[in-house]
Amino acid sequence: MTAKPLSVSRRGLLAGGAAAGVGMVAAAPAAAAATDIGAATVAFHGPRQAGVAEDPPAHASFVALTLARGVDRAALGRMMRLLTDDAARLTRGAPALGDTDATLAVLPARLTVTFGFGPGLYRAAGLTPPVADLPRFTIDRLQDRWSGGDLLLQICADDPLTVAHTQRMMIKDARPFAAVRWVQQGFRRSPGVQAPEHTQRNVMGQLDGTANPRGAEIDPAVWNPDGSSTLVVRRVRAEMETWDRLSVTDKENAVGRRMESGAPLSGTAEHDKPDFAVLDEFGLPKMPDFSHVTRARVEDPRLKILRRPYNYDGVPDAAGVPDCGLIFAAYQRDIIEQFVPIQRRLAEKDLLNEWITPIGSAVFAIPPGCAEGGWIGQQVLG
Ligand code: HEM
Repeated sequence: MTAKPLSVSRRGLLAGGAAAGVGMVAAAPAAAAATDIGAATVAFHGPRQAGVAEDPPAHASFVALTLARGVDRAALGRMMRLLTDDAARLTRGAPALGDTDATLAVLPARLTVTFGFGPGLYRAAGLTPPVADLPRFTIDRLQDRWSGGDLLLQICADDPLTVAHTQRMMIKDARPFAAVRWVQQGFRRSPGVQAPEHTQRNVMGQLDGTANPRGAEIDPAVWNPDGSSTLVVRRVRAEMETWDRLSVTDKENAVGRRMESGAPLSGTAEHDKPDFAVLDEFGLPKMPDFSHVTRARVEDPRLKILRRPYNYDGVPDAAGVPDCGLIFAAYQRDIIEQFVPIQRRLAEKDLLNEWITPIGSAVFAIPPGCAEGGWIGQQVLG
């Protein structure tokens, strides 16, 4: 009479099942109908912010805000207390305070909200920014509409409705302090469509993420001892019309890896270490010196970057020309020491540049995480 009927009906609900169970949904929180994917959470609190080192969920919205004039250090503190509280609640599947759609908050689906502080936020607080805009690269065709920002919310979840709800609630709460500067929405493969250990393909069809630091390799590349990090967000358009015209061999030479397997051109399996000394029958390096991988390669574990890119796919123009590419997000301890030299080498010489164009750029410091009751940015603004 006590535990058993309850557990039976809960099981029924989880299976999406029995009529008796369905009847209970109205009274019980809608989360009772969650699947494993819908109910999954990532802890918000901790010495480092979430949304960096975990496997990226399928959907992301990068929201950059511009602070209103007159927002000073005290106002920034008020804003960050409010936004931290929203993020802490929503990431555990609870509605935000004053949530106008509480029913949309109950399926967190691995929701993370990561806060980034742009140079302007520090200036508004009367502080010296720890990050600066990137130098200009010859390949850049940057547009203001995708560049800069004082505050970034990186909102990720395995469900786009969860991302949309979180975005709406948080922008609402930020409204007295800041205006929306740009929003970039992106996606990766949905959970469950391929084994999690498989590298994903991007919109250009390449296996993307093979050489990323993983596991214990992430720490020395990404985190400072105080739990802070930095983020570069580049919107990189893929020139699909011309990319589509290439042969597979030409695509492989541009990247330095096989399209099908992701193997380096010097090897046979995806995770073979690229060997830049191996020559082909003409005496040329099998890994062309102009290939993306050759140019981007970093061996020192402290100088690697953690790439966390999302695809974007906008509306094609009237002639059907696609508007797609990558929201290239990269985390590293230090932008100048790690990101800039790689981007500089790629800008100087990377065959892939023929088919990719940076059209947006923004940099953010990632402040440390916080404990329950604390708020993000406390060490900086408190
Ligand atoms: C649309 C833009 C881009 C595309 C399509 C792209 C694609 C790829 C692909 C297919 C790989 C090989 C597989 C892998 O290890 O993930 C790769 C590797 C890499 N890319 Fe990119 N990439 C882009 C932009 C960038 C940018 C902007 C940077 C940094 C400034 C960058 C840095 C790297 C690094 C560090 C590697 C690993 C190299 C290694 O150690 O083997 N990529 N990229």
